[in-house]
Amino acid sequence: MSMMDKTFTGSQTRSEAGASEPRVGRWQGILRRVLSGDALSYLKSIYWSVRLRGKLAMPLPVFTHWKTRWSVARTANLIVRDRLVVGRMETQIGQNGQEGLDSNVIQIGAGGSLEIDGFVTLGPGVRVLVGPNARLKIGDRSYVTANSKLIVKSDVEIGSGCAISWDVQLMDTDFHHIAQGAQNTQKITIGNNVWIGSRAMILKGVTVGDGAVIAAGAVVTKDVAAGQVVAGNPARVVKEQVRWVP
Ligand SMILES: CC(C)(COP(=O)(O)OP(=O)(O)OC[C@H]1O[C@@H](n2cnc3c(N)ncnc32)[C@H](O)[C@@H]1OP(=O)(O)O)[C@@H](O)C(=O)NCCC(=O)NCCS
Repeated sequence: MSMMDKTFTGSQTRSEAGASEPRVGRWQGILRRVLSGDALSYLKSIYWSVRLRGKLAMPLPVFTHWKTRWSVARTANLIVRDRLVVGRMETQIGQNGQEGLDSNVIQIGAGGSLEIDGFVTLGPGVRVLVGPNARLKIGDRSYVTANSKLIVKSDVEIGSGCAISWDVQLMDTDFHHIAQGAQNTQKITIGNNVWIGSRAMILKGVTVGDGAVIAAGAVVTKDVAAGQVVAGNPARVVKEQVRWVP
């Protein structure tokens, strides 16, 4: 996967790329999109975009797959500085990208906030759970690939240009306590241009520095400095001062 991923935006559909295709082909394309649920996705995206801005803005600030389960409390804040794409992401791997995976879930509890600080893509099956009075901020050009989970009880901040792979889990809370009085919830901070490999897990209290790489399957329990590569469970430094190529 690379930053070359073609994200599917609210103002562009796959078939629009073939604007010069013959009339019959175009109608076939439209019919295919309607049958595949694209029309429903646009309707749902219009609803969320209007709810966000209070009027219809083009291009739509929110583009959401119709299957996405949205649950945003009345007192919650959804802030989108540029655009949020949910449930659509075509990778260069395979012919069908990541279509057909699980539905997305976006949940923001009472008083919670989800702040999208630019253009952010959440791939199919990604679940974003922001608890009551909790805050999740995601920076410009960051993307999260299929089936990852961002679980926020207190505060999670993800910088810009981050690549978060498949099946990653970020949790700022343990949910339960081992020792009485011990802190089981602490802020997670992910810097800019961080690459988090598939099936990695980032636990409470961790800060990851700019440009760091988290290897596939790593369980990160301690801070990672800028430019480090960490791997394993618990994650240990395996390389330093790297520059990964998007
Ligand atoms: C992090 C990663 C990119 C590093 O690649 P690399 O620079 O070629 O690293 P190396 O293969 O030189 O490995 C360096 C050391 O870390 C270890 N290591 C690398 N990845 C590891 C992993 N996922 N888990 C445990 N150890 C790992 C290697 O065994 C090696 O150990 P050694 O020095 O004792 O031999 C790569 O290991 C990785 O995790 N790739 C998967 C990325 C991914 O999930 N992509 C999905 C799409 S975004």
